[in-house]
This record gives sequence, C-alpha cells and structure tokens, in this order.
Amino acid sequence: MADQQAQTGGEKRPSEIPAIRWEEPPEGPVLVLLDQTRVPAEEVELVCTDASALVEAIRSLAVRGAPLLGIAGAYGVALAAARGFDVVEAARALEGARPTAVNLSVGVRRAEAAYGAALTRTGDPTAAAAAALAAARALHQEDAEASARMAVHGLALLDELLPGGGHRILTHCNTGALVSGGEGTAFAVALAAHREGRLRRLWVDETRPLLQGARLTAYEAARSGMAYTLLTDNAAGSLFAAGEVDAVLIGADRIAADGSVANKVGSYPLAVLARYHHVPFIVVAPLTTLDPATPDGASIEVEQRPGFEVTEISAPQVPFAGPGGGVQVAPLGTQAYNPAFDVTPPELVTAVVTEEGAVSPVTAEALAELCARARRV
Ligand code: MRU
Repeated sequence: MADQQAQTGGEKRPSEIPAIRWEEPPEGPVLVLLDQTRVPAEEVELVCTDASALVEAIRSLAVRGAPLLGIAGAYGVALAAARGFDVVEAARALEGARPTAVNLSVGVRRAEAAYGAALTRTGDPTAAAAAALAAARALHQEDAEASARMAVHGLALLDELLPGGGHRILTHCNTGALVSGGEGTAFAVALAAHREGRLRRLWVDETRPLLQGARLTAYEAARSGMAYTLLTDNAAGSLFAAGEVDAVLIGADRIAADGSVANKVGSYPLAVLARYHHVPFIVVAPLTTLDPATPDGASIEVEQRPGFEVTEISAPQVPFAGPGGGVQVAPLGTQAYNPAFDVTPPELVTAVVTEEGAVSPVTAEALAELCARARRV
C-alpha cells in the first residue's frame, strides 16, 4: 500500500477554541467548553453557568475523554462553589454523569476535598470556592505536564519496540488535545513521533457509533500535518493482515488494579488482532486513570448508551429525522447493544505508558509499584 503525503502542510493548534477554560465575566464565573459534538463541522463554545449544565454537557459528550472529564469535574465543583450552589449535591451529580472514566470522580473529589478543607479552616465559603478553583487549575496544569511526559516515555518505548522507525500506528477513539490539559495521551505519542519524523502513518479508526475517530482524531491529525488515513472499525482486521500496522496506541478510561483496561468499545478486538498478528498493543494513560480500588476488569462499570446512537446516524451536517435526532438507518423499533467501552485483559496489553514511565509486562504488582514510586516523587 503506497504511502500518501500528509493531508495538510504545517502544524496548527488542535482547535481554535480550547477544549475547556474558566472565565470570570462581570455576570459571574463560567466554564467554557468546545462543544465536541459539533466538531469538525464547526467550532462552537458551550458556556456552562452551573454544574447541571456541565452534567448535561458530559452526558451528551460535548466534553469527553477521561483526562478532560477529570478536569471538567473539578471545574464543575469550583463553579458550583463560586455560584453559591450546594457543592456536595453538585459533586455527586457530576461524579455520576458518566460511570466508566475514573478520572471524573478523581477530579470531582479533589476539588470537593479542597473546598471542604478550606471551609473547615476558614469558615468562609468564598475562600473555600477559591480553594476548589485552585485545585481544578492545578489538576489542569498537572494533566498538561503528564501529557508531555507520556509522549516522551511513549516515543522511547515505540523506538525500543520498533527499532526501524517509520512507525505505522493504529489508534482508536480520540486521545489528543481535545481530551487533555496538554496534547493528550496516545495521540500525544503519535504526535511526538510525527514531529521527530518517525511517524509514517496514523491509521484512524472511525470509532462507531459516535465517530470520535472520524470527527475528532482525523481533525486533530489533519491540523497537525500528520499523514493519516481513516478506516471503518471493521477494516482493521484486513489492515493487520496486510502487515500495515506496526503498533496500536490507545488511551484508557480506567485501568483496574490487575491491569485490565477499559477504553472505547472496539479497543478489545484491536488487542486480540494485535496479539494474533504479533503487533504491540500499547495503552497510554495518566496515573489519574489507574484505579487501585477497582480490583479487576469484571468490576469496571461499563456505560451503556441509548440505542438510537446505533440505529441512527447523527451528525451535525446531516438533516435530523429519527426519534433520537439523527437519520434513522435501522428499522424503527430495532433494539441496539450499545456499550460505550470494553475491557481488555492485561495479558493482551504489551505496555501501559504513564507520566512515570512504562510498565511491561502489565501486572498488578508492576502497576502497584509504579503508583508507589509516583507517590514518593
Ligand atoms: O466516550 P468518550 O468519547 O468519552 O470515550 C473516550 C475514550 O474512550 C478515550 O479513548 C479515553 O477516554 C482515553 S482519552 C485520553
């Protein structure tokens, strides 16, 4: 298969509007999101003035991806505090908006703890709100730093596993700057390879049903000037069989203590394909995605989403017709199986790359040791 030229020339910012930002206009603080349901047709802002608007934005995937959900959750608590809402109630609603990405509750609880501690210390809700905001800002900044360090560790691992260079990487879902305080997780590694001239091609799974790959990863890849090609999820098998994939790089929504990886549905079949074809399957995730409290894959709650996401095609650029707001493609009344995530067992994962380095082979002991090392730093 002949390589094509990169679809675009130089590198642009991943989007004109940042994925998330805190603003303080005279009317009161707001959280401004890039509405990811509209990308790439348009870049529009979604302004949240309270936590319930943010909960809705999380459920609709206007804001999404594990690290960004953590950051959003923390800012959501800060928003509730700054606007004088019941912080505990807002925190529980935010935490419960989506179940699988552990980062969401990590972010919410961090800001809530900062709020509670400051309130106990000072008795002053304004000071407590400021503490919640400081916690959210710190998490945002730390995620950016983690992203940069994951890219370094991930590229080093790729170069070690694939000494020839010229990497052809397959990725799934969307793991770039749209989901992060920095340049993302798996995508950040591919971007680092691209900048070093070592990325031959980024294979982008379209990621049905909500098309995070086709809409968002392709958008980010194009704006980065990468050589990328989009494929339907079910074309991955023949791509492996043709010997066109050197490594799979994906992110994660939750990594259980035993190393089981929950990520966008369709990740597990890629892991099976990768093993069959002797291709490394690499998971890139910040430490905030590691969840020692969840013992194994079976204990991870996988979000089930509405069937209309499968029975309809919903995209901003097509006219809406079906009952769920999209174009109906299956017979009306068709039942759908629509888990948002699947779980890959650790034995299929070649390595987990974090900001503290890579773990390979992926075992409970190695992950616990990594977490302990990170706590000592
Ligand atoms: O349902 P989404 O779009 O929130 O799912 C996102 C993913 O599955 C990502 O791969 C995961 O959050 C890792 S992002 C760095």
